[in-house]
Amino acid sequence: MSELRIPFNRASICGDELTNIAQAVATGHISGDGPFTRRCHDLIERSLGVAAVLLTTSGTHALEMAAALLDLHPGDEVIVPSFTFVSTANAFVLQGARPVFADIRKDTLDLDESRLEELITPRTRVIAPVHYAGVGCEMDAIMEIARRHGLAVVEDNAHGLFGRYRGRWLGTFGCLAALSFHETKNFTCGEGGALLINDRALTERAEILREKGTNRSRFFRGQIDKYTWVDVGSSYLPADILAAFLCAQLEKREIIQQRRRRIWNRYYDGLRAWAAQNGVRLPVVPGHCEHSSHLFYLVFPQPELQEAFIRHMRRRGILCVFHYLPLHLSPMGRKLGGLPGQCPVTEWVSDRLVRLPLFHGLTDGEQEEIIAAIHEFTW
Ligand SMILES: Cc1ncc(COP(=O)(O)O)c(C=O)c1O
Repeated sequence: MSELRIPFNRASICGDELTNIAQAVATGHISGDGPFTRRCHDLIERSLGVAAVLLTTSGTHALEMAAALLDLHPGDEVIVPSFTFVSTANAFVLQGARPVFADIRKDTLDLDESRLEELITPRTRVIAPVHYAGVGCEMDAIMEIARRHGLAVVEDNAHGLFGRYRGRWLGTFGCLAALSFHETKNFTCGEGGALLINDRALTERAEILREKGTNRSRFFRGQIDKYTWVDVGSSYLPADILAAFLCAQLEKREIIQQRRRRIWNRYYDGLRAWAAQNGVRLPVVPGHCEHSSHLFYLVFPQPELQEAFIRHMRRRGILCVFHYLPLHLSPMGRKLGGLPGQCPVTEWVSDRLVRLPLFHGLTDGEQEEIIAAIHEFTW
């Protein structure tokens, strides 16, 4: 096997990341909620028009905060897609809730809103849609169902910052939404995330939860003269060094998004004919969705081709990866009652999908090599 020359992801410096970090160190504020955290909060709040943003130590922690803010009780049910990262479900399980696994649409691989209502029971409290690949879920239908049944919506927008559904930013539909700034995401600080708060009534408690259960945020703003323990909480705020890194990327958001969009489009144009000839499916983006160009995938017609393709690319020094094993069939999902056949589209897609390298620093030459290697894959 040849050495891997093209990784699946390469973390990139896109602007002033290192200068910002040096500045944070020089000014002497490297713990949480410093000047760079405030800059990130302002930038995201202004760009999306959300009521409040709180940076967190990961997307997982943003989801955990969202789950904690909804006052769930043991036995409450939360509808999550089975085709997602574990954190979408695990965050709610930590609160004693039971995830109810929903299947996905065959086209966008987002939560299948047409099958949502049949999963709702008197115990259902939350719907947690995931905007897979940064392509918006059918939010009109999901919000209407949630409204009719009195359910909260928490958007897992780990993939979709600056994506839109019918002209509206992803992450601005539910009462709460989570972002991820993990290394593989469009904007990163290594590990990080953010909680987007659309329901103002949740803001104060969210700040308390994130600050170890104390009202320290109010104290720092000079609104009280001492802070104390007022609720259950944890430590979810990232160091300002990380916010400094992230801030540089967010400030270059147009350039970063343009670059990713260009890579995404070159994959699409370069693979369309090959995919049609071979029965391979490329990502589907409905006309009313502007996606975030977060990831590019192929869905093969037969399951054996997934492994065979990954091996073929590896032999050419290119790392491609599968995505999400169905949560309902994982050891934990089984313990929670998951059964084979419960989410047939998820099971079908999970056996066939392969992600291609897509990162800011991917060069045109590397991408040409990837596309050429894909054309050489025959079966
Ligand atoms: C859909 C989804 N939700 C949540 C997460 C968790 O984000 P983080 O790695 O920042 O904790 C991920 C991470 O890949 C994800 O893909």
